[in-house]
Amino acid sequence: MDLLSKKWVINLIVCLFFIGVSSNSVEKKIYVSLNYTVPCVRLLNATHQIGCQSSLSGDVGVLHVLISEDDLDWVLSSGPNPPYMVIVEAGLFQRSVMMKLKGAPRRVAGVVVVAPSTNPAEGFSPHTTCPNENTGVYSDTYDPTMAHCNTTLWNPLGNGLSYEEYDFPIFSLKDDNDTQVIRQCYFDHNQAVNGSRPRYPLCAMQLYSHMSAVTNTATCMRRNDINFSINPEMVCDPLGDYNVWASSRPLNNSAKGHKMWESVVIAAARLDSRSFFFDVAPGAESGVSGFVTLLAAAHALRNATQEAPPNRTILYTFFQGETFDYIGSSRMVYDMDNSQFAVDLDNIHSVLEVGQVGVRPDSTLWLHSDPVSRRNDSINEEVRKLISNLQSAATDLNMSVAEPGVSQPLPPSSFQRFLRARPIPGVVIENHRFNFTNRYYESMYDNAEYLNVSYPLNLTPEEQLDFITDTAKALTAAATLVARALFTQAGGAESQLTSINADAQIVSQMLYSFLVQSNNSWFQQLVPSDLLSHLTDRPTNFYVGVHQQASEPTLLVQYLLANLTGSTVNVTQDDCQNQRQDETDKDSRHMFSYMWVQGPARPNSTGTSAGVCVRSTVRLSRALSPAFDLRDYTSSNFSTWTESRWKSIKGRIFLVASHELEMLTLGVGVGVLLTSFLLTYIISSKADILFSSGREPTSATY
Ligand SMILES: *[C@@H]1O[C@H](CO)[C@@H](O)[C@H](O)[C@H]1NC(C)=O
Ligand SMILES: *[C@@H]1O[C@H](CO)[C@@H](O)[C@H](O)[C@H]1NC(C)=O
Ligand SMILES: *[C@@H]1O[C@H](CO)[C@@H](O)[C@H](O)[C@H]1NC(C)=O
Ligand SMILES: *[C@@H]1O[C@H](CO)[C@@H](O)[C@H](O)[C@H]1NC(C)=O
Ligand SMILES: *[C@@H]1O[C@H](CO)[C@@H](O)[C@H](O)[C@H]1NC(C)=O
Ligand SMILES: *[C@@H]1O[C@H](CO)[C@@H](O)[C@H](O)[C@H]1NC(C)=O
Ligand SMILES: *[C@@H]1O[C@H](CO)[C@@H](O)[C@H](O)[C@H]1NC(C)=O
Ligand SMILES: *[C@@H]1O[C@H](CO)[C@@H](O)[C@H](O)[C@H]1NC(C)=O
Ligand SMILES: *[C@@H]1O[C@H](CO)[C@@H](O)[C@H](O)[C@H]1NC(C)=O
Ligand SMILES: *[C@@H]1O[C@H](CO)[C@@H](O)[C@H](O)[C@H]1NC(C)=O
Ligand SMILES: *[C@@H]1O[C@H](CO)[C@@H](O)[C@H](O)[C@H]1NC(C)=O
Repeated sequence: MDLLSKKWVINLIVCLFFIGVSSNSVEKKIYVSLNYTVPCVRLLNATHQIGCQSSLSGDVGVLHVLISEDDLDWVLSSGPNPPYMVIVEAGLFQRSVMMKLKGAPRRVAGVVVVAPSTNPAEGFSPHTTCPNENTGVYSDTYDPTMAHCNTTLWNPLGNGLSYEEYDFPIFSLKDDNDTQVIRQCYFDHNQAVNGSRPRYPLCAMQLYSHMSAVTNTATCMRRNDINFSINPEMVCDPLGDYNVWASSRPLNNSAKGHKMWESVVIAAARLDSRSFFFDVAPGAESGVSGFVTLLAAAHALRNATQEAPPNRTILYTFFQGETFDYIGSSRMVYDMDNSQFAVDLDNIHSVLEVGQVGVRPDSTLWLHSDPVSRRNDSINEEVRKLISNLQSAATDLNMSVAEPGVSQPLPPSSFQRFLRARPIPGVVIENHRFNFTNRYYESMYDNAEYLNVSYPLNLTPEEQLDFITDTAKALTAAATLVARALFTQAGGAESQLTSINADAQIVSQMLYSFLVQSNNSWFQQLVPSDLLSHLTDRPTNFYVGVHQQASEPTLLVQYLLANLTGSTVNVTQDDCQNQRQDETDKDSRHMFSYMWVQGPARPNSTGTSAGVCVRSTVRLSRALSPAFDLRDYTSSNFSTWTESRWKSIKGRIFLVASHELEMLTLGVGVGVLLTSFLLTYIISSKADILFSSGREPTSATY
């Protein structure tokens, strides 16, 4: 070992000693990581970016708990220690407060919204007042009086917060012990007592949610392409997932395009939802109420459509990404138009869509239709037939259905994308006559509590799963109505109608599984073993996200639909996974899909099951906006939404010293460094004396 390296080793030891002393004792005490963080992320469309982000190294601010709106003054002007990290108690998560914070990015380092345990009574919707305003059918050329929600403002409570851009991170925290730690830190260190300045050290928070993409979709897709040639690091991804569909009669899915003699009635619902925050989108009324009703209707129709198949095929479709300018339905219509789907637009007889049908205040279901296409007599005739089918089914069931005024346009719905392609007769069922009755549209409060899915206190999870709530009864009645109307619409025999009844038990189980927890004994039987680990004890998140593979909600609906409309077949696991009845079978894969799922647990085994093969007509089809296939990133016809990528989402709280103290610390640090160099120099120059190793050969010890 020569003198130089020995010198460095000693130097290193001395330095490590000082670093060890300073960091070990200090860092651990002052940093507390946040355990449950839900960010707001950046999304981009053809022209704008929305959402939130932090700087690359995270944004730091002194904590301030906002208790009333008057308190804002401290944050925006009078507080002496900006920037502030503002803890917004749920009642204050309003447009007026958020806009003031947004307007002062120099004084606001970030915002943390404490999610309340009960929903705000006054309602809250961070969505726009006119959802998907520019991508539905009502453009200025279709009918200027109906464009831009001129006739009916669908979501009057919408405050548009989800579509604003913020220059700071915004996170959500559950109101629990974590949040209490934060509040305590604030009360102990930061609260101004009797108007005096709070004294250092102050409690601060750092949030990391740096977003890679900027400006708009065209910019980030271009950057993706450039990056891809150098290293495959993307900056944004198109929003998208898969649609789920099934048919009451098998359709050859390998033969795309027009099918002679085929006439289909489309029964549609949407799957996805969103909220202000990234991974909280319970969508109870906006999504779940509609698709659960349609699933139950499909189940109710299984036997009837197999025993006495009606002339027309019923095509059940569940659309993904509808929140973001109708990604799923626009893609299916595009595929039908381009002979990429099992049927084409000419095969469509009519459309029946199930929208928001939960929590009906006046217990009437409203049958919305498009006044513009109904100006054509032949279309109008078909719409009237469909409405009368629904009305007669309702009369049998003692339910009340009605049409809103003849001049009212359709509410936001997937059916609008079909109408955009061509006039097709259709009806959208909703629980509202004019604007939405949903007071929490596309917010984190559109949850089980709002849908009144609640259980007596003393029930175990398994008992809750089976408990039939009033909401389930109401949706079951709606499902029976939809099923019978569809059967008549498809040309089914009237004598069969009374045998078509939705099952309240299954509706209850679906509501529990999607709105309370998917990890339950029922879903465990319906899914294959590799999906078991994705079942959770939380409500399902219906945000569409960026999925190259189908997301959990899509898969759950797929397996559920297979169970509800398919049949179990005696096929080996091998054949099942190879999509065939047996080794000689080459053709059935075109008509059916086979899924190997867990199946009912065997009575004597310990929860493990042998597995069963379910044969059904259920398929997935890509729900990616055609704009990305066409590379038309400024499209005004198709959704252009992309989601930025990010590296880390995290937050922590700690105590900060005053600026002066920090300078002092720095000074001491520099002093320590210089001392250590000096010490090193002295030690190494006297090394021969101190270590007296020079005489022995170093290799001798080894
Ligand atoms: C993009 O989103 C912004 C914010 O919601 C909206 O104002 C704008 O119209 C959208 N652009 C297009 C082309 O849809
Ligand atoms: C929260 O704190 C309370 C009281 O300190 C304690 O009883 C409870 O178990 C804590 N909850 C969790 C989830 O840690
Ligand atoms: C996060 O969890 C850790 C370990 O459970 C705990 O020590 C810490 O206090 C938690 N963070 C907050 C902010 O409560
Ligand atoms: C604040 O002021 C009130 C009245 O002026 C006084 O009674 C109280 O002790 C003060 N509190 C503190 C912490 O100084
Ligand atoms: C389905 O379509 C494919 C492709 O056109 C064809 O090869 C196959 O024979 C068809 N199967 C049936 C059962 O019609
Ligand atoms: C929901 O439940 C609450 C309290 O249980 C009740 O007051 C309300 O009427 C219910 N709403 C509906 C639509 O059933
Ligand atoms: C009405 O619609 C039908 C079918 O789309 C079309 O054949 C017919 O020409 C239309 N009639 C009028 C008057 O536009
Ligand atoms: C689901 O619940 C079972 C108990 O029923 C439990 O063993 C399993 O770990 C849970 N799975 C997940 C992913 O939480
Ligand atoms: C659907 O699931 C239930 C409950 O596990 C099971 O009893 C039934 O056999 C399944 N049906 C089909 C067609 O898979
Ligand atoms: C399933 O098929 C196997 C072999 O063909 C046969 O031995 C078995 O009895 C069948 N099981 C049922 C339930 O039909
Ligand atoms: C389950 O019961 C059957 C017959 O009752 C028996 O043959 C089988 O071995 C049992 N399986 C287990 C895992 O105990």
